[in-house]
Amino acid sequence: MKIVPIIGVCAVVGVAGYGFSIAANAQLAAADATASALANPYGRAPAASLWPGYGNPPASLAVDPGVRGGAAGAGGPVPGANPLLTSIFNDGLDKFNEVEDVPEGLGPRFNANSCASCHSQPAIGGSSPPNNPQLQIGVAEGARNVIPWFTTRNGPIREVRFKRHPDGSPDGNVHAIFTITGRRDAAGCNLAQFNFGTPGNPLTGLGGNPNLAFRIPTPLFGAGLIESIPDSVILANMAAQSAQKSQIGIRGRPNSVLSGNINLGPNDGTITRFGWKAQNKSLLLFSGEAYNVEMGITNEIFTDERDQTPGCQLNATPENRTNYDGTTATEVFPDIVAFSNFMRLLAAPQPAPDTPSIVRGRANFSTIGCAACHTPTLTTAALISDISAAKPNQKVNLFSDLLVHNMGTGLADGITQGAAGPDEFRTAPLWGLGKRVFFLHDGRTRNLVEAISAHRSPGSEANQVVDNYFRASTAQQQDLLNFLRAL
Ligand code: HEC
Ligand code: HEC
Repeated sequence: MKIVPIIGVCAVVGVAGYGFSIAANAQLAAADATASALANPYGRAPAASLWPGYGNPPASLAVDPGVRGGAAGAGGPVPGANPLLTSIFNDGLDKFNEVEDVPEGLGPRFNANSCASCHSQPAIGGSSPPNNPQLQIGVAEGARNVIPWFTTRNGPIREVRFKRHPDGSPDGNVHAIFTITGRRDAAGCNLAQFNFGTPGNPLTGLGGNPNLAFRIPTPLFGAGLIESIPDSVILANMAAQSAQKSQIGIRGRPNSVLSGNINLGPNDGTITRFGWKAQNKSLLLFSGEAYNVEMGITNEIFTDERDQTPGCQLNATPENRTNYDGTTATEVFPDIVAFSNFMRLLAAPQPAPDTPSIVRGRANFSTIGCAACHTPTLTTAALISDISAAKPNQKVNLFSDLLVHNMGTGLADGITQGAAGPDEFRTAPLWGLGKRVFFLHDGRTRNLVEAISAHRSPGSEANQVVDNYFRASTAQQQDLLNFLRAL
């Protein structure tokens, strides 16, 4: 990532040569042209002295220690789950892992053939693995898919939305990258892949066709805890210290419910919280959506095939449903209920033990201002049913306020979902960060310093906080990075 000084213009953050830069400026273009992003697409962050507005830039920058080694520390059921809950968890895990074929509902279009294809780092239920399995999935069973430019061996799994239809009207929907055409179990289907247009940088996903907007998988560890945080807690946290927050550019939003700044569900008007834009209400809803959108499997929430090309409709719909012939609970559950139970019972990720540097880094996280959005702890409801990893009044160390914030032109993806506009994203929960490979909604970087830098661009609520980070001493920055990799 390059940061280029432009006198009188706000700092510009961009990956060299790949045109997502936010100021059309000859100086910037020249600087971009000289750097080779492909040679070093995940290059080290630039010297802070290149960033305008730093009174006393540090001589050197701290370094992301990289993916934490050791045990995954995630992927199991909530500690102390009784035998019934453990068997429900294991049933959900099996189904989450299951590879689906066309007779089971896969397609006509799909991004992958199992929930676990995308949610597997550092354990099943996590985020994108370091080696993208889609290269095999796209050609399994004789399928004739071309692997698109943004899907590459060492890059993240990306799903893609189109910002606009060919006629220029707003689109925003996921366009699955593969079709079942050519598969041995899909005789008679002849469906072309979407055209993903001009290639950009395959690793960062930046540049290329400007109509594409990417998302990488979010991790699911502790999802049941997130589901159990009541709206009242989210609103009280939003109101807390609003004067201090607005002083550093983070909106207090006392009227946000009325003015629609929080994502409110269209069905019942409560706060939605899952997904990069906090666009979805519940794990069940997300399961139904993912089953159909990622895998093409219709179900009792999303009942219609997304692509209804004749010749490619090979199953009765919904393709997966409640099994009324079952004799045990898990036999009866439709897959989407099994997935939801698995995610609700998944334990929160286990952080690394404290060291003096991690302890200092935790303090720096607050003083620098990261905690103004990445709220370290929220509390679950007083009464919670037992199909959840959450206990009543439990402290959840998710590092998110579950609100959406304006993240500036540099991160804006042009997609509106519910109340979240084109430049707004949910404060990404940071628990489990130490084991993550790819960062930010589009997976543009695997480097924490770059992820922090990308928070800064015109209009971003995080600009002052990012400046605070780069003004901190190298040792303070290093402690902060060590703390993040301990999560
Ligand atoms: C092709 C990859 C892919 C597959 C397969 C996939 N997901 Fe995801 N998942 C994603 C992406 C990308 C996101 C972020 C989506 C967004 O915000 O628009 C996501 C987000 C989620 C979330 C939201 C969690 C949060 O806190 O934000 C849930 C829940 C989820 N997936 C469940 C599932 C389930 C259940 C399945 C199987 C039916 C599944 N996913 C299959 C890619 C995938
Ligand atoms: C204005 C609110 C805000 C502030 C302040 C803020 N963040 Fe974020 N952070 C976000 C949002 C929103 C995202 C998701 C952005 C995206 O993916 O486009 C995010 C994403 C991240 C990610 C990537 C997480 C992932 O899942 O990929 C990291 C790491 C991160 N922030 C660390 C920090 C640190 C460290 C600080 C302090 C220096 C900080 N943030 C300050 C709102 C904020």
